[in-house]
Amino acid sequence: MLHALRQPIYSLRNCTVSWSSRVERGVVLVNSTVGAYTYVAAGVFLNRTHVGNYCSIASGSKIGGMEHPWRSGSTSTRLSRHRIAETETLIEDDVWIGSNVVLRQGVHIGRGAVLGAGSVVLDNVPAYTIVAGVPAKSIRKRFSEEIIQQVTNTRFWKYPPDKAKQLLDSINFQSVPVRQISTRIKL
Ligand SMILES: CC(C)(COP(=O)(O)OP(=O)(O)OC[C@H]1O[C@@H](n2cnc3c(N)ncnc32)[C@H](O)[C@@H]1OP(=O)(O)O)[C@@H](O)C(=O)NCCC(=O)NCCS
Repeated sequence: MLHALRQPIYSLRNCTVSWSSRVERGVVLVNSTVGAYTYVAAGVFLNRTHVGNYCSIASGSKIGGMEHPWRSGSTSTRLSRHRIAETETLIEDDVWIGSNVVLRQGVHIGRGAVLGAGSVVLDNVPAYTIVAGVPAKSIRKRFSEEIIQQVTNTRFWKYPPDKAKQLLDSINFQSVPVRQISTRIKL
């Protein structure tokens, strides 16, 4: 019953959503799956997309939207004999997708990647890579290769939050540089 109350109104067509995930109001999910402990914010659209565990998808993002047959006489599916592409989009565990991202159908986002707000992501994104822009380009890796390896070795995304936190606490993230956001604003 509690779970039912935590899941507000969203639209599902042929989907599986883990009970431990939270899907906000106005989300549309079509032929998609959402893994455990994942957050899907208001107004997100997912089509033929598989989302892993511990992902965060910010509001307004449109993921795996259908590619219409623009090579034929009309882009309208009412007029074309060509079928709409049915390729699947894959988002691995612990991916953070910023607000209003457009992620092209068929793209594969590696574990731990970050997609910057407003990005249009046309290509696969390797694990632990931050991409942003239109079209999205790599900004940097989240961590050094050594820390990526340590995080990967924990396989924390396979566990519930208490155990996952415990595994991540065993890693020293002090060497990851913290940039001051205020330095970008020049008055
Ligand atoms: C992608 C993101 C995580 C990067 O953060 P960061 O590592 O602190 O990035 P920086 O501010 O150091 O920017 C690095 C470069 O990427 C560019 N950049 C950062 N975010 C960008 C974005 N969303 N779109 C386009 N370019 C972006 C910056 O302009 C900068 O370019 P420069 O080196 O030419 O000046 C962050 O900008 C972002 O988009 N966060 C999402 C916020 C959001 O949507 N929240 C929703 C609620 S969860």
